[in-house]
Order: sequence, then C-alpha cells, then structure tokens
Amino acid sequence: MPELPFPDPELTDGVVTLRAWRPSDHAQRFAGFSDPLCQRFSWGSSEPFTEQHQLSWAGEEEEAARKRGEAIGLAIVDTSDRGRVWGGASIYDFTVAEGRARVGYWLAGHARGRGNATRTVGLLVRWAFTELAVARLELTCGPDNRASQRVAERSGFTREGLLRAHLPFKGGRRDSVLFSLLPTDPASR
Ligand SMILES: CC(C)(COP(=O)(O)OP(=O)(O)OC[C@H]1O[C@@H](n2cnc3c(N)ncnc32)[C@H](O)[C@@H]1OP(=O)(O)O)[C@@H](O)C(=O)NCCC(=O)NCCS
Repeated sequence: MPELPFPDPELTDGVVTLRAWRPSDHAQRFAGFSDPLCQRFSWGSSEPFTEQHQLSWAGEEEEAARKRGEAIGLAIVDTSDRGRVWGGASIYDFTVAEGRARVGYWLAGHARGRGNATRTVGLLVRWAFTELAVARLELTCGPDNRASQRVAERSGFTREGLLRAHLPFKGGRRDSVLFSLLPTDPASR
C-alpha cells in the first residue's frame, strides 16, 4: 500500500493550518494531549499517558503507519504563528482498496470553544476527498462525547447509529457513535 503523502502545500483556511509535526512541537503536543478532556475521550489505554508514550508514537509508530498507508497525523496550528500548536488531527484506519477512512482530532484547552475543530474537519474532508480519493469518511466518538458529536454535526456528517462494544477502551470496551460523510453530501461541496 503506498505511503500517505503530507499535504503540499499545507492545509489552511486562514485561521487553522494543518502541517506535519515537528520535533520542536513535543512539549506543546504533550501538554495539550495531557489535558483531562483529551485523556477522557482520546486516550484509550488503561495506563496513564506519559511522555514516553508520546515519544514512541511520534518518534516511530506514527511515521510507520503513514508509510504503510494506514494513517497520517498532522499538527493543528495557529495560521498566524505556525509554531503555536492548537491540537492534533488525523486520517486513520485508511483502507485504500475500499476507499474508506476515519477522521480524528483533539484540541488543547486554550484552543477550544471557537470552531477550530470544525475548521480542522473541513480541511481534512476536502483533502481526503480530492487528494486521497476517499469515497467514505467516518467519524466515531464516545456516546458521552457531546462536543465531538457537535463537531460532526456542524461539519455536515450524518449520524448512522451506535457501534456496540466498538473499541478496547481503558481496560474494557466502549460503544461508539458512528457518523459518515460522502463526497456527494452537500457539506462536501
Ligand atoms: C472535541 C473537541 C475537539 C471540540 O472542540 P471545539 O471545537 O473547541 O468545540 P467547542 O468547544 O466549540 O464545542 C463544539 C460544540 O460542542 C458543544 N460542547 C462543548 N462542550 C460540551 C459539553 N461538555 N457538553 C455538551 N456540549 C458541549 C459546544 O456548545 C458546541 O456546540 P455548538 O456547535 O452548538 O455551539 C474538544 O472538545 C476536545 O479536544 N475534546 C477532547 C478530545 C476529543 O474528544 N476528541 C474527539 C474524539 S472523537
């Protein structure tokens, strides 16, 4: 499976920019993802999240997944200061043969509450449909993650239902709400 390319040029709407992670982002990435809301909803392990987890993921595993064509992670940064990290975004569970992928995102506490996640999803959606030939984008989140469900709704995704016991999560299994977006949906145009 071919590796996933980094967007070139970087994806931006003039407020939010999505670019490749840089080694210098480490401290901001760790601080942002250590936030309680990210830990509650986006960290599925039963172990506490540590700097070592981030170093392993950012150092090797993330790049290996990109090279296998399965996933790509991008930094969400402030367009007016591209060194200022607002959060992380990804296309993951990409299956080229079936033209299907998922979008993921998290924001540091200081970057929330002003539409940055919706802007991020808008950029990922256009890029996935036009450059990656994705035919169906999925978004899944915990049934109690109302903020993320609002982001899905505001981004024009359709709620399809509940995936029961969908994922290993914090030592058990978690249900997920499933949303999807197609290139032919009004929000994609
Ligand atoms: C999901 C996330 C990225 C959304 O960030 P955001 O863009 O700043 O979202 P906002 O704070 O603007 O809220 C978006 C919507 O959710 C609503 N919302 C926010 N927190 C909420 C809560 N605790 N309960 C119910 N609704 C909530 C807001 O009112 C807003 O609704 P609106 O569209 O009707 O105005 C952010 O909450 C986050 O980083 N969460 C932790 C990681 C995570 O959950 N990632 C997604 C995994 S699926």
